[in-house]
Amino acid sequence: METQSKILVIDDEEIVLDSCLQILAGGDFDLSTANNGTLGVSLIEEFHPDLVFVDLKMPGISGFEVLEKIQEIDPTIVTIVITGFATIGSAVEAMQRGAFDFLPKPFTPDELRLITRRGLEKRKLVKETQALRREKELLREHFAAIVSHELKSPLAAVQQYLYALSGELSSQLTEDQLRRFERIQTRIDDLMKLIHTWLRAITVDLESIKENFKPISISSIISKAVESVEPQAIRKDIPNHTTIQDDIYLVEGDEGTLVEAVVNLVGNAVKYSPTGSRVEISAINKDDQILIRIEDNGIGISKEDLPFIFVDFYTGTTDHNIERGSGVGLALTKRILEAHNGSVSVESELGKGSTFTLCIPAIKDNPIKMTEMSKEPVNNI
Ligand SMILES: Nc1ncnc2c1ncn2[C@@H]1O[C@H](COP(=O)(O)OP(=O)(O)OP(=O)(O)O)[C@@H](O)[C@H]1O
Ligand SMILES: [Mg+2]
Repeated sequence: METQSKILVIDDEEIVLDSCLQILAGGDFDLSTANNGTLGVSLIEEFHPDLVFVDLKMPGISGFEVLEKIQEIDPTIVTIVITGFATIGSAVEAMQRGAFDFLPKPFTPDELRLITRRGLEKRKLVKETQALRREKELLREHFAAIVSHELKSPLAAVQQYLYALSGELSSQLTEDQLRRFERIQTRIDDLMKLIHTWLRAITVDLESIKENFKPISISSIISKAVESVEPQAIRKDIPNHTTIQDDIYLVEGDEGTLVEAVVNLVGNAVKYSPTGSRVEISAINKDDQILIRIEDNGIGISKEDLPFIFVDFYTGTTDHNIERGSGVGLALTKRILEAHNGSVSVESELGKGSTFTLCIPAIKDNPIKMTEMSKEPVNNI
């Protein structure tokens, strides 16, 4: 059964709200109104609208702020800004910030109906695309789970036999045959690595690490992660610059998995950047949290890819010459951070670069002076 489309109108002029209600009343919609931005934002969370009309000029929270909140709450909600003629420039700005269209005041009933229909069609398309993507992801997840379980044992056996055979035959094979043998082994090793990565993504139990949480130093996490990515960074001639606030707090956590999270981000920064560029890593105290930032000037991430990069097995669609990964690094990083009551976020622009930020709750009463720490030096690769 088709559910009714939900429409929310946010405008401080009661006359606009009333006329929208009257015009759209016959259209089999579930309608709601708010006469200010604060109420509008809370209705977005409670009412879950498909389409929101929002006046740009309102006392209190402005239409721009409402648009921003909508982007945070659910970027798939279609927004249309209502605007007076004199503010057409800001309507264009609103569209640049994600609004789908704008409706100049005063508007006729037909104009409102037409723009409503277009807005809802857009919403339908966005939801269908999202459902298709999710379906594709689920298929990939199931496929990866089955394939990796079924392939792992036979492949491990093949790998074992190959090692044994190459040892036994090494004195009888020609140079060329030995090289081909090596190539087979390398390919099988790569496959095994891929299967292990998939399996780790699917089976990793991050709940259990919580039992062994202890206070750990951020600079030790960063320095271990940097060290682990060093070979790739050197190969691409990418130096990193690390800045850690002097009295950085400790965090309560599991060092191994936090290092893994930072390795994934620094590894990506190096992998998705051109040779000779630069990666900046920083860590600061922010209120009750530690923020670790990893910034690159690499290929960046398209707007289309951005909402999905933390999904298991998702690899970006950007056409570049970089060897495809397995798409689990960020999904795993997100889960690791969640297990630490933290989060990971990203800002990125295609062609310009990306900044990933890890946010981890700090142990505030125990700041540690870098000079007092018996820490390994933080490398400058
Ligand atoms: N710093 C970055 N710059 C540009 N694109 C990035 C960056 N980090 C991640 N991405 C995009 O996000 C996608 C998902 O990243 P993720 O680390 O999960 O997987 P991956 O790097 O493809 O493979 P792996 O599992 O080996 O890490 C990547 O395929 C890439 O398109
Ligand atoms: Mg990666």
